[in-house]
Amino acid sequence: MSVEREFKKVTTKSLQLLKNNNIKIAALTAYDFITAKILDESGIDLILVGDSLSNVFQGNETTLPVTMDEMIYHTKAVCKGVNRAMVVVDMPFMSYQTNSDEAFRNAGRILKETPAGAVKLEGGKLIAPTIKKITEAGIPVMGHLGLMPQSIHKFGSYKVRATDLEESKEIKEDALILQEAGAFAVVLEKIPAQLANEITESLTIPTIGIGAGNFCDGQILVTPDMLGLNIDFKPRFVRHYSNLADQINFAVSNYIKDVKEKQFPSENESY
Ligand code: KIV
Repeated sequence: MSVEREFKKVTTKSLQLLKNNNIKIAALTAYDFITAKILDESGIDLILVGDSLSNVFQGNETTLPVTMDEMIYHTKAVCKGVNRAMVVVDMPFMSYQTNSDEAFRNAGRILKETPAGAVKLEGGKLIAPTIKKITEAGIPVMGHLGLMPQSIHKFGSYKVRATDLEESKEIKEDALILQEAGAFAVVLEKIPAQLANEITESLTIPTIGIGAGNFCDGQILVTPDMLGLNIDFKPRFVRHYSNLADQINFAVSNYIKDVKEKQFPSENESY
């Protein structure tokens, strides 16, 4: 693992080096300073300020309502907690789909107003010219294929994508097009593991999977999901590494009991 220890700061080059050395990339999402600091100190390679912020932080049903200003606000907080990990920011719905000039300006805003190192856009060949324009200006872009939550109203459900030949072929082609357009990595969400394997082998850039099996070059999960904070959401691809909702519930119940029974604060906790 000496390749990994060399990184004082993870960059697009480090991620490429991990793929080249067959070392998996570990990525998680964060939306606030404290969580980002803990993830970074734990050694995570990449932190995504995902537009899942809309669901797990703001309580919306979809990722569509979150705005550019909100993404920038949360990214500033996240970056204050991060020394080593690469920070990637989701471009929110309608910040890049209208035209490539607006996309370019918004991607530039993210890198100018925050210390983040890259942006992520959902989509295939339709947004390839936009990705080319942004990357040529020196802004690293991560792609996102398969289940693209910003297209939920087109898909109609959050079911696994590319279970038929036509869509598998399209995603394989899109992955190559994104690489050609200059993307430094591609997220593959909720597609069959075998398809993710074929895409991973066909690309020179890393793939990061979520619900896309074990063959991708890296994995990403939404942090509140994997910590067991978001207990009502447990699709097959989420593993609960903790049960924080229960732990918080236990702590808060004890606090309430102590306050009601006049057991908190004690003399030692008073001035
Ligand atoms: O917004 C997000 O958290 C994401 C991940 C699920 C990849 O895009």
